[in-house]
Amino acid sequence: MESYKIALIPGDGTGPEMLREGVKVLQAAAKKFAFDLTFEEFDYGGERYLKSGEVLPAGAVEELRKYHAIYLGAVGHPEVKPGILEKGILLRLRFELDQYINLRPVKLYPGVETPLKDKGPDEIDFVVVRENSEGLYTGSGGFMRKGTPHEVAIQESINTRFGVERCLRYAFEYCREHKRKTLTLCGKTNVLTFAFDLWERAFHEVGEEYPDVQREYAHVDAISMWMVKNPEQFDVIVTDNMFGDIITDLGAILQGGMGIAAGGNINPQGTSMFEPIGGSAPKYTGKNMINPLAAICAGGMLLEHLGEKEAATAVEKAVMTVCSEHIQSLSAGKMGAGTSEVGDLVVDNL
Ligand code: IPM
Ligand code: MN
Repeated sequence: MESYKIALIPGDGTGPEMLREGVKVLQAAAKKFAFDLTFEEFDYGGERYLKSGEVLPAGAVEELRKYHAIYLGAVGHPEVKPGILEKGILLRLRFELDQYINLRPVKLYPGVETPLKDKGPDEIDFVVVRENSEGLYTGSGGFMRKGTPHEVAIQESINTRFGVERCLRYAFEYCREHKRKTLTLCGKTNVLTFAFDLWERAFHEVGEEYPDVQREYAHVDAISMWMVKNPEQFDVIVTDNMFGDIITDLGAILQGGMGIAAGGNINPQGTSMFEPIGGSAPKYTGKNMINPLAAICAGGMLLEHLGEKEAATAVEKAVMTVCSEHIQSLSAGKMGAGTSEVGDLVVDNL
C-alpha cells in the first residue's frame, strides 16, 4: 500500500477549521482507494509569531522538505502587520522549496452561481499556470532617501530565462497531459518590453516542441476583459507572478468565489504545497460558518499531485454533487449547513 506523509499548516483564523474538513475528506479517500496518509501538524502562523516573535523556526524548511506534500489552511492575523506572515511563511516556503508553479484551476461547478450573465460550467473551465518564484515577488529593489520628499522606491521584476522557460514547459506539458488545446500567454509586451520580450520569445521557442498545443497571446488588461466577456476562449493561461496573482482572483470569483477556489504551489521535483486561495477570514473563526470546499478542493489537487488520480477525481465529483444538490450557497453562513457538515457531506458522497 502506498503511504504518504503530509505536513499540515492550519495557520490562522478559519484556516484550522477548513483544514480539519480537508483532512477528513483525505482520510476518507485514503480508506476508499487503499492508500495510507499520515499527518504531522505545524503551528506556524500569527499566534505562534505573537508569542515567540518567530515566524518560521530554524530548520522548519528542511523539516518540511521531508514530506510528500504540505497542506496549508491560511495565514494572516488581524494583530500582525500585513506582510510579515505572508512573506515570512507563505512566500518563504514557495521560494525556499522552489515551488515555481502556482496552479489555479478556474472551473465552475454545476449548481454554483457565477456573477457572469449567460455563462455556465461549459464556458468557465480553464487553468492558470502562474510563475511562482520570480517576477515582482523576489523582493529585489529598495528605498533611497526613505521618508524624505525625494524618496525613491524601486521594486524590480526579475525574469530569468531559466525560470521563465521551466514555467512555460510546465504549462505546455500540462496542456498535453490534460488534453487542453490552447495555451495563452498573458503578458504586456507593449509596455514591459524587456520582461515580456523574454517571455514571448521563450514561449514560441519552447512551443515549437509542442506542435499539438496551439499558442495564443493576450495582454493582461485585455485578458481581464475577455475572462469576463468570453471565458470559454481559455484553456490554459500561463503568466508571470504578479499578473497571475491578479487574474486568479478574478478567476476565483468567476468560479463562485473564495469558498471554492484552490491552488497548488508546485515543485515537480520537490515538496509541493496546496491551499485554499482565500484568506484566513478571522471574523468567522470558530463559528462553524466558513465554507471548507476550497480547502477540500486543494486536498483533491494534493491527491492528484501524489499520483492518486482516481481518489482526486472522486473528491472533485463529490464536491460537485455537494454543490449542486446539498448546499444553498458557497458563502460563509449561507450554505444551509455548517463547516463540519459540509465536510461530512463530501465524505458521504465520495
Ligand atoms: C495568493 C496571495 C499571496 C500572493 C499573498 C498572501 C502573499 O494573494 O496566494 O495569491 O500574493 O501570492
Ligand atoms: Mn492573490
